[in-house]
Amino acid sequence: MNETRRRGARVRLAVAGAATVALLGPLVWLWVGSLTPDTYSVMDMGYADYGGRTPAPAAGLPDHSAHLMGAGMHGHAGHTPAGRSVTSFTPDPGRPADVAVTLTARRERFRLAGGRSVDGYTLNGTSPGPVIHATAGQLVQVTLVNESVPDGITLHWHGLDVPNAEDGVAGVTQDAVRVGGSFVYRFVADQAGTFWYHSHQVSHEQVRRGLLGALVVAPAVRPPARTVDTVALLHLYDGARTVNGREGDVRVRALPGDRVRVRVINTENGETPVWVGGAPFRLVAVDGTDLNEPSPVRDAAVPVTAGGRADIEVTMPADGAPVRVHIGGPTGVVLGSRSYDPPAAPRPTTTLDPLSYGRPAPIGFDPDSPDRRFTYDIGRRPGFLDGRPGVWWTINGHMFPDVPMFVVAEGDVVRVRIANDSGEPHPMHLHGHHAVVLARDGVRATGSPWWVDSLDVGDGETYDIAFVADNPGIWMDHCHNLPHATEGLVAHLMYEGVTTPFTVGGPDGNAPE
Ligand code: C2O
Ligand code: CU
Repeated sequence: MNETRRRGARVRLAVAGAATVALLGPLVWLWVGSLTPDTYSVMDMGYADYGGRTPAPAAGLPDHSAHLMGAGMHGHAGHTPAGRSVTSFTPDPGRPADVAVTLTARRERFRLAGGRSVDGYTLNGTSPGPVIHATAGQLVQVTLVNESVPDGITLHWHGLDVPNAEDGVAGVTQDAVRVGGSFVYRFVADQAGTFWYHSHQVSHEQVRRGLLGALVVAPAVRPPARTVDTVALLHLYDGARTVNGREGDVRVRALPGDRVRVRVINTENGETPVWVGGAPFRLVAVDGTDLNEPSPVRDAAVPVTAGGRADIEVTMPADGAPVRVHIGGPTGVVLGSRSYDPPAAPRPTTTLDPLSYGRPAPIGFDPDSPDRRFTYDIGRRPGFLDGRPGVWWTINGHMFPDVPMFVVAEGDVVRVRIANDSGEPHPMHLHGHHAVVLARDGVRATGSPWWVDSLDVGDGETYDIAFVADNPGIWMDHCHNLPHATEGLVAHLMYEGVTTPFTVGGPDGNAPE
């Protein structure tokens, strides 16, 4: 090769190299910037959003522009000089338990009622785990034992506004319980209603494969005679649609004239319609909160948000005919006394809209002069998530972990506008609080107060919600389509002055999503 040609080749290489750097440089920069450290505190994620207030002196969180990830720990002394750890928020340690349950988790093969065998996780040998029953006001104590779940486990009490230390989020309120370990949860079940529990360690995988169960809190006043109360927990195991772990219908005995409450729990990743064939029904509660003056409904489907609950009440027909509560399809719960094979009713074309169902009632605070206003704007764009290229969710234009940390102070009235133009619906779940829906797409709510802990925000929709910050701690605020949470649709609500000693990652492999 002569000298000129060699030089030419070198020049061409150099030009190509420069072009590559020009093209790839910003990509490499983005890629490096997306890497999350092996261990980090959620307190260091993203940037503080004070919802229009100035931070309390020494609140310790950096401002909107600062990107904290990797910056290491820093103090969050708020009202109290030293800050207060999430672990300090517990019920009275001296109070004895009224309901005590031990749940032992195992990785194993188990059989669904109806035959199919599933490779997954059980609690006390079954999935779903046992239904936990309590009466409003009782102190519930659950001892969780990990016998053989390799990644470690936790339990989160979905929809119950428990004290922060009991919330069961690995890396935020506790370390994952490793094989051979245990953890005791204690909380007062002060709200009567339908709830559920599930692991919040590697939750997208552990919930799907069975680490979940129902939790029912009965009202302190005894229900009238001739009341039947039943749980209908929907879950998909390896694609098999089940109710209470059974493929096909669940049969519940109910006599003519009986009032039956069917507590539908949607543990799936998507919204599920529920409808009733054979009798009118009322939607009497959503997400564990009774609705005010719900009227009888015929021929409408009730949308149940992923993670959400809907309590359906039916009065059994006088002629003894069976009633079918359809849960997402032809099967569900059949209520009857003599026969249990009513025909399947087609899915109604109309959908019950909680925004205008029932009658208004006081909500106990004024949402029109809030102390904080936040936006939770969900979008999607190409980029890197922890070094992986893809099209990822964004919150207020930022990609995980560079997302807002919503900061409040105890007692604040908080208003949040959730907007979604990401192309897909998102069932948004705020831990530790119930929020009331004020409006959807600017249309004000006119029905019963509609309190939610899980709210399906459809593509193109905007919801205005409000809540009172009355449960100090650090709380997840994420999408309950759990794979979406692993794709970065996770933020936190943090009270000024609260700190956590736990970290994501670390020796216990904490991985809440
Ligand atoms: Cu049902 Cu963050 O969880
Ligand atoms: Cu989502």
